[in-house]
Amino acid sequence: MKHKVTFLPSGRTIEVDDTCYPLADHGRPGSILDIALATGIDLDHNCGGSCACTTCHVIVRQGEQNLSPMEEDEEDRLDIAPGLTLHSRLGCQCVVQGDVVVEIPEE
Ligand code: FES
Repeated sequence: MKHKVTFLPSGRTIEVDDTCYPLADHGRPGSILDIALATGIDLDHNCGGSCACTTCHVIVRQGEQNLSPMEEDEEDRLDIAPGLTLHSRLGCQCVVQGDVVVEIPEE
């Protein structure tokens, strides 16, 4: 199935085909990080996508229900993310299963 992922603030929309996951080589296959890296979107990933930092933090603006549910590891890690919001996720952990809009916070 095809899904659309829009990255803010650039507003760039990427269409991905979930039968082609993984698209790159970091983070969960089909995660926001995987998609960002495959399409040249600048999303930090200091730990290499293994849920051990918070640099891949994104804020979900639309389609939260279209991301894989949050697991405990991600929840614990997110707790220390600067600028944490109720709609925050770690880009390397949330897998795209439908259309989403995510914002990459400045810091
Ligand atoms: S890249 Fe480190 S937690 Fe996602």
